[in-house]
Amino acid sequence: MTEADDPHPPAPTSAVLPARALVTGASSGLGLAFAQALTTRGYEIVMVARDRSRLDAAAGQLRSRDAVDIEVLAADLSSGEGIAAVAAVLADMARPVDLLVNNAGFGTAGSFADNDLAEEQQSLAVHVQAPLQLSHAALGGMRSRGAGTILNVSSVAGWLPRGTYGAHKAWLISFTRWLDIAYRPDGVRAMALCPGFVRTEFHQRMGVQMRMVPQWMWLDADAVVDEALRDLADGVRVSVPSRRYRALLLAARVLPDRLVAGAAGRGRPATPR
Ligand SMILES: NC(=O)c1ccc[n+]([C@@H]2O[C@H](COP(=O)([O-])OP(=O)(O)OC[C@H]3O[C@@H](n4cnc5c(N)ncnc54)[C@H](OP(=O)(O)O)[C@@H]3O)[C@@H](O)[C@H]2O)c1
Repeated sequence: MTEADDPHPPAPTSAVLPARALVTGASSGLGLAFAQALTTRGYEIVMVARDRSRLDAAAGQLRSRDAVDIEVLAADLSSGEGIAAVAAVLADMARPVDLLVNNAGFGTAGSFADNDLAEEQQSLAVHVQAPLQLSHAALGGMRSRGAGTILNVSSVAGWLPRGTYGAHKAWLISFTRWLDIAYRPDGVRAMALCPGFVRTEFHQRMGVQMRMVPQWMWLDADAVVDEALRDLADGVRVSVPSRRYRALLLAARVLPDRLVAGAAGRGRPATPR
C-alpha cells in the first residue's frame, strides 16, 4: 500500500510544523509567563482559562508581538465538560500538541473542616483530575509520534504538610516523576515544576494578606518560567526554582513534621477569608 492509498496517513509531526503548546491557566501569572516565553521561542499556543475576554486580550498582545498562531479556549477545568473540551484538543492527531503545560490552579483559604466541600472538590478537579485527564489525552499522540513533553506546575507545598492544596500538589509531583520514568523510553518527557511564593494573582484571588512573607521568599514569574524551561532542556524531572527554595526543601526533609508544619503555615492563614 502506498502512502496515497493509506486512509489514515500519519499526522504531521513537529519536525515539519512549528512546535505547538497548550497552556492551562494562561490568562495570568505563571501561565501567561509560560505563554509569553513560548511564543518568544516560536511556539504556536493554545491558551486555556475560564475568562475569555482576558484570554483574547493576552492572545492579541502575543500575536502582535511575536506573529505566531494563537488559539484561545475558554474552559472551566473544575467541570467535566471543561476538561473534556481541552482533552479533545490534545487528542486531535491532525493538530499535534508537542508541549502540554498543566498550570491552572487556585488556592483555598480557611480550614478544611469548615470549608465548603464543593470548593474542595473543585480544587481536586483543577489540581488532580484535570492534569490526569489532560496528560492521558496528550500521551496517546505523543507516544505514537515518539515525542512530546508534559510540564506539570506543582508547588513546594507538595513537599509540605499544607492542606488539601499541598496534598494535590504532592500527587502531581509523584504522578509526574512516574510519567517521566515510564514514558521517557517512548520519547515523551515529563517535568514537575515546584515554585515557592511567586508574585502573581494567586494570593490576591485567595483573599489573603501576604505581608508576613519576607521579601526574599518571593519569586518573579518570568524568572521561574525561564528556570523551568532551562531545567526541562537539561532533562530535570522535578524543578525547584532558585537556590533558596532548594535549600529550604532540603531542610524540610530532615526537620520533624511539627517544625515544618509551623513554618509551612506561613501565608496560609487558618482564618476564613
Ligand atoms: N503564585 C504562587 O505563589 C504559586 C506557588 C507555587 C505554585 N503555584 C501554582 O502555579 C499555578 C499558576 O498559578 P498563578 O500563581 O499563576 O496564579 P494566578 O495568577 O491566579 O493564575 C491562575 C490561572 O489559572 C486559571 N484558572 C483558575 N481556575 C481555573 C479553572 N477552574 N479552570 C480553568 N482555569 C482556571 C486562571 O484563569 P481564570 O480565572 O480566567 O480561569 C489563571 O489563568 C497554579 O497551579 C498554582 O498552584 C503558584
